[in-house]
Amino acid sequence: MTTYPVTKCLFPVAGMGTRFLPATKEIPKEMLPLIDRPLIHYGVEEAVDSGCKDIVFVTGRGKRAIEDYFDRSMELEQILIDKGKPEYARMVRRISEMAEFAYVRQSEPLGLGHAVLCGESCCRGGYFGVILPDDVMLAPPGFSPVLKQLIEVHHRLGGSVVALEEVSPEETSRYGIISGEMEEEGLYRITDLMEKPAPGKAPSGLAVMGRYVLSPSIFDLLRNSSTGSGGEIQLTDAIRSLSVNEPVWGIMYRGKRFDCGTNESWLRATIAMAMRRDDLRKIVMEEVGSLACPGGINAMTN
Ligand code: G1P
Repeated sequence: MTTYPVTKCLFPVAGMGTRFLPATKEIPKEMLPLIDRPLIHYGVEEAVDSGCKDIVFVTGRGKRAIEDYFDRSMELEQILIDKGKPEYARMVRRISEMAEFAYVRQSEPLGLGHAVLCGESCCRGGYFGVILPDDVMLAPPGFSPVLKQLIEVHHRLGGSVVALEEVSPEETSRYGIISGEMEEEGLYRITDLMEKPAPGKAPSGLAVMGRYVLSPSIFDLLRNSSTGSGGEIQLTDAIRSLSVNEPVWGIMYRGKRFDCGTNESWLRATIAMAMRRDDLRKIVMEEVGSLACPGGINAMTN
């Protein structure tokens, strides 16, 4: 079994972000901040910390801000230096130095599988990572970043790998759900997948989360895929076909997922992330405490 380093990571970022309108009328949803960094920054950092040097964004209309964010901004750096803030200048410069960035357009919103297929010209030739940036994932101290946990399984066993999490029966209709055989604790060989099965129709409670290491064979399968759930070309369906001829593993990853895909979950993620930071925890506690006090809500609205 030969495995190769996984050095490319694809980010599908063409989605319109309708759930966050009007905030996303002029900015991409991937640029919404989680505390002090846009969502996309966390995903790219995870890919880079997992060993990826090439980041491929599959973008669409209105996503220029992502390109600008990862581009060098000499003018801003100079202004910061002139204002005596060299540490900020270094910080913004480091963003553009994280990796090599490439951009491919997805001109029609034909689904996640189609978005991955659009990235083929930049990813062909080897196994590659995929990160869905709505899911921000932080590994516990001492553990590899989540994408790297998948890459480690690929290096140990070969084949493709997806991240899994157990979800409740009511939640299966939001995710790709697998059936599989447990090979070892927390590791499944996937035998089937269903995209967003209704409660009661799901083959298990094991849901695919937004991290993948994929075989280059996925591109031919995507090209020949017909539309699936929601009338879109589904990545899940192509991975299912892949599992017939090549191993596809699912791992219960170690880490905390911050779902930033809806207003409610983004708010939860923001609070949870703030609570992890020594400099912000007290502020959250103070605000929540003031709401819990009699008259607290009035005090907030005045
Ligand atoms: C996509 C995938 C789904 C996966 C989910 C993880 O769905 O199609 O299989 O479980 O991401 O977040 P989406 O959230 O884009 O509808």
